[in-house]
Amino acid sequence: MPAALPISGDLVNVPLLDLVAQHGAIADEILPAAMAVIERQGFIMGPEVGQLEAAIAALSHVGHAVACASGTDALLLPLRALELKPGDEVICPSFTFFATAGAVHNAGGRPVFVDIDPASYNVAPEAVEAAITPRTRAIIAVHLYGQMADMGRLKEMADRHGVVLIEDAAQAIGARRRVGRDWRMAGELGWVGTLSFFPSKNLGGWGDGGMILTQDAGVAQRLARLRLHGGAKQYHHDEVGFNSRLDTIQAAILLVKLRHLAGWSAARRERAARYGELLRAVPAVRTPAVDADAEHIFHQYTIRAERRDALVAHLRQAGIGCAVYYPVGLHLQPCFADLGYRAGSLPETERAMAEVVSLPIFPELNDGQQDAVVGAIREFYQ
Ligand SMILES: Cc1ncc(COP(=O)(O)O)c(C=O)c1O
Repeated sequence: MPAALPISGDLVNVPLLDLVAQHGAIADEILPAAMAVIERQGFIMGPEVGQLEAAIAALSHVGHAVACASGTDALLLPLRALELKPGDEVICPSFTFFATAGAVHNAGGRPVFVDIDPASYNVAPEAVEAAITPRTRAIIAVHLYGQMADMGRLKEMADRHGVVLIEDAAQAIGARRRVGRDWRMAGELGWVGTLSFFPSKNLGGWGDGGMILTQDAGVAQRLARLRLHGGAKQYHHDEVGFNSRLDTIQAAILLVKLRHLAGWSAARRERAARYGELLRAVPAVRTPAVDADAEHIFHQYTIRAERRDALVAHLRQAGIGCAVYYPVGLHLQPCFADLGYRAGSLPETERAMAEVVSLPIFPELNDGQQDAVVGAIREFYQ
């Protein structure tokens, strides 16, 4: 979520995210990997890019992965591959980061916003079904805050209507969900799944980066071409594409961090469980609902709170980092005014906009810091 860069160091008592602590713990591993790229001056499409693609494809149980320049481009490239015509519709949530719908617009499509399930904040499958029309070409499910949407129902629906299902897994790398009897990874069941390596993500680089996951070799080939100006062979262009490569140095850094990802996600889950216990005694706060069929990776720990804006002011005053993801749904953004949505169009989205706040969560968050967060919340409601 690019709007809220991590706050760390002395400015606050408890940062929302502490990347300085993460870096301190792995500097000995990561600096030589970055330095190796620098010393050989091999910055573009070096071997680490393919190694990272293979490693993340294996983690996500997909046949193919295509690294690209950002999580935004990871959405844009497959949407461009759909060759949308004016008026073609792509169903997506409004309660998400802007890129989800921005990419639809930039690929020539019309975003159709649907409401969320108030417990998970993910798209409500029945709202998706109701929004399908003969113009629908794709559904984008965003796995918000690190918990997967109901992929079983969404996949069945997409297949039945003959439209593609895109998983925006920018916030959910390595998350799982039980579909039927099997655990499925984020990005495994969709036509494509998309990842972001923005620095604040659970697997974040030292700048922008993204990846597209797919089971389809033909789709992977087309996307790999689109990321390199539309040509499989240098200076030969089959179609007009983009310059959307992942830098080799980012791939080298991400390969090192990937070794820690499972441990980091487990630590985030453990911290989330502890918040749940500590906040049980605060009735004005609703802690996140974890679906019994989902393994949440807690990219964010997002509560619903009474008098949310006053609580945010109090936490900031107390030196506690916090953020509202997202204060304005995309259906109410001025740039989408011509789509005709109004206040009241998506009631659950609008309720969430007014009630949610994300608290500090990161693998290095210690008991004392967490106690300080909960202490400040208790103090506010007393
Ligand atoms: C849900 C979602 N989709 C897409 C993106 C875009 O990713 P990026 O910032 O890497 O372009 C983000 C991240 O910011 C996101 O949270």
